[in-house]
Amino acid sequence: MRIYDIIEKKKHGKVLSKEEIEFTIRAYLQGEIPDYQVSALLMAIWFNGMQPQETTDLTLSMAHSGDMVDLSAIEGMVVDKHSTGGVGDKTTFIVTPIAACLGVKIAKMSGRGLGHTGGTVDKMEAIPGLRTQLEPAEFFEIVNRVGACVIGQTGNLAPADKKIYALRDVTATVDSIPLIASSIMSKKLASGAGAIVLDVKVGSGAFMKDIERAEELARTMVEIGKLAGRKVVALITDMDQPLGQSVGNRNEMAEVIQTLRGQGPKDLTDLSIELASQMIVLGREMDLKQARKEALATIESGEAYAKFIEMIQAQGADISYLEDLDAFASADHQSELLAGEKGIITQIDAQEVGLSAAMLGAGRKEVTDTIDYTAGIKLHKKVGDQVLEGEVLAVLQSADADTLQAAKERLRAAYQFGDGAQPRPLIFKTIN
Ligand code: URA
Repeated sequence: MRIYDIIEKKKHGKVLSKEEIEFTIRAYLQGEIPDYQVSALLMAIWFNGMQPQETTDLTLSMAHSGDMVDLSAIEGMVVDKHSTGGVGDKTTFIVTPIAACLGVKIAKMSGRGLGHTGGTVDKMEAIPGLRTQLEPAEFFEIVNRVGACVIGQTGNLAPADKKIYALRDVTATVDSIPLIASSIMSKKLASGAGAIVLDVKVGSGAFMKDIERAEELARTMVEIGKLAGRKVVALITDMDQPLGQSVGNRNEMAEVIQTLRGQGPKDLTDLSIELASQMIVLGREMDLKQARKEALATIESGEAYAKFIEMIQAQGADISYLEDLDAFASADHQSELLAGEKGIITQIDAQEVGLSAAMLGAGRKEVTDTIDYTAGIKLHKKVGDQVLEGEVLAVLQSADADTLQAAKERLRAAYQFGDGAQPRPLIFKTIN
């Protein structure tokens, strides 16, 4: 088999065989094929796409390029949840305790943030003492005892995806649906869960800016999951403005607590209930309506909140921060963004909010950058809200006073005002 012939075949839009895909992945990972040939193949895939079986073969090859996590030590049905990434998305910490309260096991491996999106592991590390790197035995023990545990990804999960993703990043081939779908699903399949709920974001803060592309990505991932023998459901959800009212690591963890105490923002609460309900449906084969009712009840009764505390304590968290959330989610320096005009907010560009938060220190430009957990943005107003001139739109926070002004200008440009906002649904579609 020659990589030249494989590139030639894909260039003409033909379907690659499982053997050709496996050969390419194995040989590339072992350094037997140079970057420039794989780059050419990626570009041919970008132009010509892939058939469902081809995308599945690519996904499985990448998944099997490293460790395949064996979750058989966990008793019961393990359900995973994955978001394609957004701004202010902290649903993992709300859905996980809800689903665990209702008998679904969660053994989740998450990543760090890069660019405008936040990372689950960074948010967890904003809690004092919480350990995110656990040995498998401790990870499984916590899942069996508490019902859920979220940790950082291990070093050897889908290494072929890591290498190919880095190449896509510099060859303008990130935005290809089969490549995104196989990249995400290779890590999910390698993580071992039998069922997966996917939250595919659409809008200004998401990879997919329009609903048609988001739906195509969601259908592709559901299809891969099914062909690989997993139960998968995907929700297409709004990321045209940040989710909830808090962006930044400590801010977001404080909002998680408010939401688990039943006092969270409506969009965050509603989306978390829906995602958790879908996890319960997959894990326990419960009817969706019943699952929604039971999920909501775990918040109202305080059970989900208690479960969250149990989860984080099992990972070493010092929970004294819960006594004063305002102090926990404050920073050395802060500045208010005031409305320059009167009107209704018609847009808050989520990507720009994410980038403003990253400028304040909440995110990374490079993988090696360090994070300021206190940095972030608290949104006082959201799309559809009426504001008067001079009203507070948002508060910016940082440990570094010098970043406030530039971030404030960037954040100001994220807002648009008008006479009325067209309401967007929070959940556009469910695909199963
Ligand atoms: N997230 C991934 O893991 N891979 C992609 O290609 C895009 C988003």
